[in-house]
Amino acid sequence: MAKEKVLVTSALPYANGKIHLGHLSGAYLPADIYVRYKRLKGDDVLYICGSDEHGVPITVTADKEKISPTEVIDRFHEANKKAFEKFGMSFDIYSRTSIPIHHSTAQEFFKCFYDQGLLVEKKTMQFYDEKVNKFLPDRYVEGTCPKCGNEEARSDECERCGSLYDPTELKNPKSKMTGETPVWKETSHWYFPLGRFQERLEKYVSEMDEKYKWKDNVLQYCRGWFNDVLKDRAITRDLDWGVKVPLDDVQNKVLYVWFEAVLGYISATKELSEKRGESELWKKYWQDEQTKYIAFIGKDNVVFHTIIFPAILMAWNDVNQNKFCLPQNVPANEFLNFEGKKFSKSRGWGIDVDEFLELFPSDTLRYTLGANLPEGKDTDFYWKEFQSRTNGELADILGNFVNRTFTFAHKHFEGTVPARGTLAKIDEEMLEQLKAAPVKVSELLERYKIKDAIFEMMNLARAGNKYFNDSEPWKSSKANKEQCATTINICLNIIYTLAEIFEPVIPFASAKIFEMLNAKQTDWLNSGETNLAEGRKLNEPQILFTKLEDKVIEEQVNKLPQVEEAPKEVSEEITIDEFKRIKLRVGKITAAENVKKSDKLLKLQIDLGTEQRQLVAGIAKSYSPEELIGKKILMVANLKPAKLFGVESQGMVLALDTTEEGIVKLIEIDESIELGKTAK
Ligand code: MF3
Ligand code: ZN
Repeated sequence: MAKEKVLVTSALPYANGKIHLGHLSGAYLPADIYVRYKRLKGDDVLYICGSDEHGVPITVTADKEKISPTEVIDRFHEANKKAFEKFGMSFDIYSRTSIPIHHSTAQEFFKCFYDQGLLVEKKTMQFYDEKVNKFLPDRYVEGTCPKCGNEEARSDECERCGSLYDPTELKNPKSKMTGETPVWKETSHWYFPLGRFQERLEKYVSEMDEKYKWKDNVLQYCRGWFNDVLKDRAITRDLDWGVKVPLDDVQNKVLYVWFEAVLGYISATKELSEKRGESELWKKYWQDEQTKYIAFIGKDNVVFHTIIFPAILMAWNDVNQNKFCLPQNVPANEFLNFEGKKFSKSRGWGIDVDEFLELFPSDTLRYTLGANLPEGKDTDFYWKEFQSRTNGELADILGNFVNRTFTFAHKHFEGTVPARGTLAKIDEEMLEQLKAAPVKVSELLERYKIKDAIFEMMNLARAGNKYFNDSEPWKSSKANKEQCATTINICLNIIYTLAEIFEPVIPFASAKIFEMLNAKQTDWLNSGETNLAEGRKLNEPQILFTKLEDKVIEEQVNKLPQVEEAPKEVSEEITIDEFKRIKLRVGKITAAENVKKSDKLLKLQIDLGTEQRQLVAGIAKSYSPEELIGKKILMVANLKPAKLFGVESQGMVLALDTTEEGIVKLIEIDESIELGKTAK
């Protein structure tokens, strides 16, 4: 097969906090597995990442801790870089957006758009602090909520009563910088006219999907955006932390963090080129039509990578000779939750990567997260599952198979690879399976079905154990040495292939196995065959995985903040017949939009298979319209229609309360259930 030129990026994490397990599952582990696999296959791969170091959250942290933004980003950049290394991320570079080459790259793009007259300048009013002569971003203004009187309301949103309002309605506004009352002042910003690219963007997404099959969740987000007319987006801000707007007469304005952060992928590649002393290297990837560019991200980043970044690149490509390639695929993942709830720093819910790796080896985490990636829907990390995957799968299946084979080879064949004799049916079948395994894994990884690929990898170890058991070498070692030798030879070759195909997931254990086999990794295409010549001297076996005791796991579970038990509810009993009057049916959300003048309600279109319904649901705080599209839900189908905010609602969706006030979670129905089915 021809070598592919592959450019892979993972979303640049904010250098404003530490990386936790949820981040890993979203955009990093899947990418690393893919990249390692591609390299083993012999493809030409570049894997780029780095810290996203601008944006208001960083200055807010800096202000809070009374340190400079630079101190904030230095601290987290280094911490995250180290944590990623320890986790085994195989970036070619982990760069950062504060470096000069990034500033100049982002400015070059802005200039290019400005000079071609693409950008639209618009005037707006904004809070201004006269004491420090600065415009105040939303987060820097606090006041009294116009609805409920909360004195600590944000400029456009009250966290207590949940209302959203226009900042002009906020009463008694105060600058968080100085405590002064800010004034309204006119400012102007440059907008990127996204709407002008809408047609081409839609075409781009559908063409890429046709050719390369995009994930359903990603397509649904895109459709959600394309249902509306894409609006102009401001790409500048009144701040001093960030990439300066490169115009002579403009001061105190920077590029909007999202506009420049995505360009960070390019500048990071430029930095890598410099480091490697090959200044044109980045062009060989970014500016070659043959490049397969894959952008790994979490679901909250979809619009930036399937719409905004492609639009930026299109706008550049329209007027420049050197054209950039657009993402060929954006295999975004959903989120990983932690023990049933969202990760939350402030509530101490979750665990950071560095903390985790102080306690447990990386491979066990990589395997557990990998086997449970949120590829199609949100998933959870549970300590108990971590224990059972480590003990029951890594140790008992993979570790055990390797260990018993090695022990046998050392005991009966002087620690060498014994010669194969005549093959029995069981041997031939095993060899067939061995040959097929890398092919299967490969097919799945090419389609970003990483979870399934990992299942197939472990299946080969399962098959190996079964083959060992069924062959009963402990008997043949006495009765038929040649047959015994055949069994052990084949088992050792299975182990070789396991080390090969498992490398992307558990690279540390894989390296150990190769050491034990006294062999080198060859390449993916040669695995699955006979790789170990007879007579090869083997090294001593090493322990691959240590089992986790209950008390170690319980200790971690006990560390979690206690949540209050919900009070037992006493409610009136109903009869089964009364319950049966309620018709619960399965529907699919086909469209969602905000209800005008309401910050809580969304208007949903529901497909029940045989009919369409329109519902108004109070879930606007919990979901954005675009993330709802495609979800299968349960609804009360025989509720009397009602009008809410002037919009007709014909039913009700079922959702559950969460621990977060005002936030609910829809009851989602498995993909396999047909539309219109009723619940009993
Ligand atoms: N820093 C953003 C986040 O963590 C992601 C940025 S992706 C990039 O959500 F492409 F913009 F860099
Ligand atoms: Zn309020």
